[in-house]
Amino acid sequence: MTSTESVTASAPLAERTPNPRTYLMCRPEHYTVSYRINPWMEPTHPTDTARAIAQWQTLYETYVSLGHTIELIDPLEGLPDMVYTANGGFVIDGTAYGARFTYPERQPEGPAFMSWFDANGFDVVEPKNINEGEGDLLLVGDTILAGTGFRTSTDSHREVAEVFGREVVSLNLVNPSFYHLDTAISVLDPLTGDDDANIAYLPSAFDDASRAILEKRYPDAIHVSEEDSRILGLNSISDGYNVVIAERATGFEAQLRERGYNPIGVDLSELLLGGGGVKCCTLELRR
Ligand code: ARG
Repeated sequence: MTSTESVTASAPLAERTPNPRTYLMCRPEHYTVSYRINPWMEPTHPTDTARAIAQWQTLYETYVSLGHTIELIDPLEGLPDMVYTANGGFVIDGTAYGARFTYPERQPEGPAFMSWFDANGFDVVEPKNINEGEGDLLLVGDTILAGTGFRTSTDSHREVAEVFGREVVSLNLVNPSFYHLDTAISVLDPLTGDDDANIAYLPSAFDDASRAILEKRYPDAIHVSEEDSRILGLNSISDGYNVVIAERATGFEAQLRERGYNPIGVDLSELLLGGGGVKCCTLELRR
């Protein structure tokens, strides 16, 4: 063993602290793949709604066992993608910036989520521009990372900066399989300031300019493999210590463990047929 290796091997793991969070979820009672708005979706491929519900239930119970609070929005018939609540809005400090979906198939979800926010005590901001909520808008430390290229518009990035009075960093997504920012970036440390906030990401999902921004801002980020990304391994939820990830993303799991996080694998293979994973089924409610 070289001296460098022994230093690495004996380095103490970082202290990670879990923070109980509140999430909005939607039971996939009407889940199916009946249209194609991303490369994962194949309407001729059969889906199993009962299996989707069972997998979703495991995710729900995992969150509850970690001490998180889960709130539920009623699933609506004819909106099979409503299970992906991350797209329903973006919520900070009790203000919910509503979603305005790109494709007609999902557009009715926008008002449905806004009604829920309103009925549950949030100040609702009706969006003027196309945006798919926390699917493309991620709070990392004090900064909002905002994806564009496939769904959310850069006009909405400007709108979000005004609504929340925070720095918004636009990032260009270039691979249609990673069409939402939350399929290419995982936020590892909610509730920390900019200095301590870290992420994991798939470098090739971004154009050169955006990759350079990420390298500069997050020099210690975890770079996740194509293999783990291709099963939406990055589409995960962290409370600062426990990180709920796709159970097949074993490389990412090892990387998280090395950094002192506690990865917890779940199987959402049925929901992957719609192009979503753990994070897609979870919207953080910051009151
Ligand atoms: N079928 C959905 C769509 O294409 C999947 C959404 C996944 N959500 C996410 N936050 N990445 O819109």
